[in-house]
Amino acid sequence: MKEKQEMIKKELEKDLKLVKTTNDLNELKVRYLGKKGIITELTKNMNELSIEEKKEIGRLSNELRGELAEKISELENELHAKELNEKLVNEKIDVTMPSTKLSVGCMHPLTRISDELEELFISMGYDVVSGPEVEIDKYNFEMLNLPKDHPARDAQDSFYITDEELLRTQTSAVQVRSMLKNQEKKPFKIVCPGKTYRRDADDATHSHQFMQMEGLVVDENITLADLKGTLEEMAHRMFGNERKVRFRPSFFPFTEPSYEVDVSCMKCGGAGCNVCKGTGWIEVLGSGMVHPNVLNVCGFDANKYSGFAFGVGIERIAMLKYGINDIRDFYTNDLRFLKNYNRVEGGDK
Ligand code: DAH
Repeated sequence: MKEKQEMIKKELEKDLKLVKTTNDLNELKVRYLGKKGIITELTKNMNELSIEEKKEIGRLSNELRGELAEKISELENELHAKELNEKLVNEKIDVTMPSTKLSVGCMHPLTRISDELEELFISMGYDVVSGPEVEIDKYNFEMLNLPKDHPARDAQDSFYITDEELLRTQTSAVQVRSMLKNQEKKPFKIVCPGKTYRRDADDATHSHQFMQMEGLVVDENITLADLKGTLEEMAHRMFGNERKVRFRPSFFPFTEPSYEVDVSCMKCGGAGCNVCKGTGWIEVLGSGMVHPNVLNVCGFDANKYSGFAFGVGIERIAMLKYGINDIRDFYTNDLRFLKNYNRVEGGDK
């Protein structure tokens, strides 16, 4: 037995030298001290031995187990220290290395203009509402005084989905929806920003998808003076108090009288330049007094109620404010372009 013990010790010394990692050591531990390990094997087949002999062998093998365990644990500590050291060296952080830059998103210029307009109208007591982009012909055209054969429909070449459904060509459809919904809540003032669609060939000033903001006020005794005052205030707040504003007679089937609103050119101040095409004026929106036919079909007695409405092109406002020449830039989503407009006066948002 003693000889066997000595042999095992020598074997262990040899094996310990071959150990390189804690994994190797764990394997060795199992091999010597495990349930089916070398030490346990020593105490097997003792049936023929006397009790005294069994006791002696038990004592010796326990002694051996203790000795081996001690040696293994010594090496274990050494290995742990070594591996920890290696880890510290390998995983050292170089704080002088250039960082990977996190890219931060930004507000789209159209969202920015739309928000600015919303805030402006909220401050004047308007509610912000929305309507569906897939609209019915009845709300997009018919109830806005544009029956099926009306020539003014040609100006708004539409994406029809069925005979009666289309992608809305104008946020004016929300005027109808709002009037039908607000029968009990007269008077009301709403703005509605949103996407609109027309079958236009895309070029620098046309996009088949674009954005509008619609405005509508309905009450008793609403006059042209209310329309003028409101839109002048809007033009001044969007483009600056120094801008002159003029109302030019125009035609829209759903308003009578109708006006287009021009502001004095922000580039030349009215003298005439390439931006205003020499006229000194820039058109910013369409507006008018709600047509009596529209009030009546939407459930408002035109003898008692009146209202004004307007429709602003969001891209147009953004192009004028930021000096952007091509409407397609809003939709190609080049981050270099978009981030350029992520600045506000007084610092970054
Ligand atoms: N919907 C018109 C367009 O897309 C714009 C417009 C003009 C809206 C006059 C109005 C309005 O509400 O009163 O060209």
